Amino acid sequence: MTTSKGDISKMSFGRTGDGTPVDIYTLRNANGVEARITNYGGILASWKVPDRQGKLGDVVLGCDTLEGYLKGTAYFGCIVGRCANRIAKGRFTLNGVARQLAVNNGPNSLHGGLRGFDKMVWQAAPSATPDGPALELSYLSKDGEEGYPGNLHVKALHTLTRDNGVRIEFTASTDQDTVVNLTNHSYFNLAGKGDVLGHSVQINGDQITPVDGTLIPTGELRPVEGTPFDFRRPALIGARIEDNDEQLKFGGGYDHNWVLRKPLNKLGVMARVAEPASGRVLEVLGTQPGVQFYTGNFLDGTIRGKGGWVYQRREGFCLEPQHFPDSIHHPNFPSAVLQPGETYRHTILYRFSTE
Ligand code: GLA
Repeated sequence: MTTSKGDISKMSFGRTGDGTPVDIYTLRNANGVEARITNYGGILASWKVPDRQGKLGDVVLGCDTLEGYLKGTAYFGCIVGRCANRIAKGRFTLNGVARQLAVNNGPNSLHGGLRGFDKMVWQAAPSATPDGPALELSYLSKDGEEGYPGNLHVKALHTLTRDNGVRIEFTASTDQDTVVNLTNHSYFNLAGKGDVLGHSVQINGDQITPVDGTLIPTGELRPVEGTPFDFRRPALIGARIEDNDEQLKFGGGYDHNWVLRKPLNKLGVMARVAEPASGRVLEVLGTQPGVQFYTGNFLDGTIRGKGGWVYQRREGFCLEPQHFPDSIHHPNFPSAVLQPGETYRHTILYRFSTE
């Protein structure tokens, strides 16, 4: 499909273990910016954006083949759900019914369980929109899947915008009360490779939700003032990451949720990241109340990614717009419960420019 706003094309990306065919879509806008998205896990597999000199470079971590993603443990570029981030002890009670989820991260449940949305093959519908080439991914998560109640119909509309953004518009509806927290788990490296410690980050939040040693929020909203978590003015990722700070120790670096300043459910700038050598700038906009800033602390040189490149610790960072982690256990956090008749709406806009 080609229009003056860009084009979208489809290629086979192989088959999953059970033989389900998977495709990969290439979206290109009028500026030559190119994003590749597969309907396996909704993974944003590559994204080529210009540097200061106009040279295109891939700014997301990932794999060259579907096999790489099938083995994956790092959640490269995928859609995370039904509930992104952690649920303490993998247990919750909703409307008096106790639910037990898979415990797959220490004592907790992480990123939707053993087979979350990142490991599903989504229905794909490409289109050319006035805003740019788009790919709508749909998935029906059946009642009881991974222990969650309710049939959940999910859509994730990805658009490569004219201003070099990838916009992801999630919607979901359910037939029973359930927990929903979707996000995109792209790891960015604005220089293309090397550690991200020299990237400059600004996050528009005055507080974080501090965690215990298993990365579950304590329920406190803690001011960032005077801590290594103060990114209200731009600061290098590496400047304070090794400080003697209990929260940094628990995360092995940054792996925390920020309470954003912008109004809830309104699209606003959550964070801005600049990489001085390439001049690339990433802005993260979204509608959700929080953003998880994760500095690739668990990358350990065991994953072979694109072009055979082995990803070392802190070679990528994630900014995952989301509900606060473990919201179901914290009445003081915005609710992540979705009820029948409501529509869950969540927009993420990752946008590139240079300076
Ligand atoms: C999120 C979590 C991290 C880690 C990564 C995936 O960002 O908060 O602790 O699990 O996903 O490795």
